Amino acid sequence: MEIHIVQNAERGAEVVADVFVRTLQEAGESGTVLGLATGSSPVPAYAELIRRHREEGLSFARSRAFLLDEYIGLPAGHEQSYHHFIRENFTSHIDIDDAAVVSPDGASADPVSEAASYDRRLREAGGVDLQILGIGSNGHIAFNEPGSSLGSRTRVIGLARSTIEDNARYFDTADDVPVRALSQGLGTILEARRIVLTATGAGKAEAVAQLAEGAISARWPATALQMHPDVTVVVDEAAASKLELADYYRYSRRLEAEHPLLALG
Ligand code: F6R
Repeated sequence: MEIHIVQNAERGAEVVADVFVRTLQEAGESGTVLGLATGSSPVPAYAELIRRHREEGLSFARSRAFLLDEYIGLPAGHEQSYHHFIRENFTSHIDIDDAAVVSPDGASADPVSEAASYDRRLREAGGVDLQILGIGSNGHIAFNEPGSSLGSRTRVIGLARSTIEDNARYFDTADDVPVRALSQGLGTILEARRIVLTATGAGKAEAVAQLAEGAISARWPATALQMHPDVTVVVDEAAASKLELADYYRYSRRLEAEHPLLALG
């Protein structure tokens, strides 16, 4: 895991955007499959990518995108649907084809079949080249709540009480937060070829410490990422405050800067 501890959200956004640019460049003509997260964590990175698109000509024209998850019971056009969120905050501001931005259908009459079909569609698209993730305060990634199997696939999942409380800020009341979601599984996410996770704030400190340094366990689902060979974690000082090895991560990034061919995961 390559852990970057950054001074502020703007610097974090640049580090995340650099990972996107590297992935887009490597794919060249063949195009990239991007895995997109919603929620507040990736928004600064999306803003930086939009800026690079507008000011530096960064193009997503050959990219496709798959969302991580979607609430069940909200129609696609609903203000709080992730289908809507990703367009508002990212994809409608860049040159990606809207039809190439795919999310699970939270309004499907048969969510169980929809989950299986979403997993299949991801595989048929050749899998995800770069997956961006946030992390829940309880250690979830996508909506893989504590207790999720490390090999889980896209499925219907019930939201944990803590997630409903965390996400209530987007709704009028906690009772309006949907209680179920369609979510890529941990096994699905681990198939992405590259992953970048970003987190800010003290509320994420415990989850970030577990993610990087805890024992791999369904208790903290993000620990599954320790098994992946290409994960970059970008956190601010507050989110990094419970990392026991913070000094080592800082030292490793400095060494890499001095010796650019080193990759000290
Ligand atoms: C969103 C998602 C969630 C969020 C997580 C953090 O698509 O899958 O796992 O990344 O709940 O949310 P924020 O960034 O709002 O703190």
